Amino acid sequence: MRQVFVLNGPNLGRLGTREPEVYGSASFDDLAAECRAVAAKLGLQADVRQTDDETELIGWVHEAADGRIPVVLNPAAFTHYSYALRDALAMRTAPLVEVHLSNPAARESFRHNSVVAGVADGTIAGFGVMSYRLALEAIAELAGPGDPAGEAGPPGGAGFR
Ligand code: DQA
Repeated sequence: MRQVFVLNGPNLGRLGTREPEVYGSASFDDLAAECRAVAAKLGLQADVRQTDDETELIGWVHEAADGRIPVVLNPAAFTHYSYALRDALAMRTAPLVEVHLSNPAARESFRHNSVVAGVADGTIAGFGVMSYRLALEAIAELAGPGDPAGEAGPPGGAGFR
């Protein structure tokens, strides 16, 4: 089954108790279980990870690039300032969808800019856990039916810049 990484940045491990009026009541474990279930229905095997550490997150992005593994990424606060993460993502070799639970464009001005958006295929924001579901659907389409992990095609093909 084709693999997809669902990577999550800082403070997302606190979902459920973290500002539930903004991020909803689902815990990170709930989110991870939902992603795995949705992915399985799409013929994907989701490897769902979360870290508060920029170095670790960049390491996972390198791992995805080396393995030609598509990525759904919620960079959390790194979205707004991590050029190191952006540069790592620019080396991607498979589809990338940026996701957010909330709608950063409707929040504080420091959240309006994403340094990641320009290297992603697209961004889905504002739909809570549904943002991840929609992103996985996009990944399934972009990666193409039946492409096994590691054979998603060269940069420049469908779903790539
Ligand atoms: C977030 C939005 C970011 O601005 C924030 O720093 C987060 C979560 C979201 O999913 O809505 O940590 O990425």
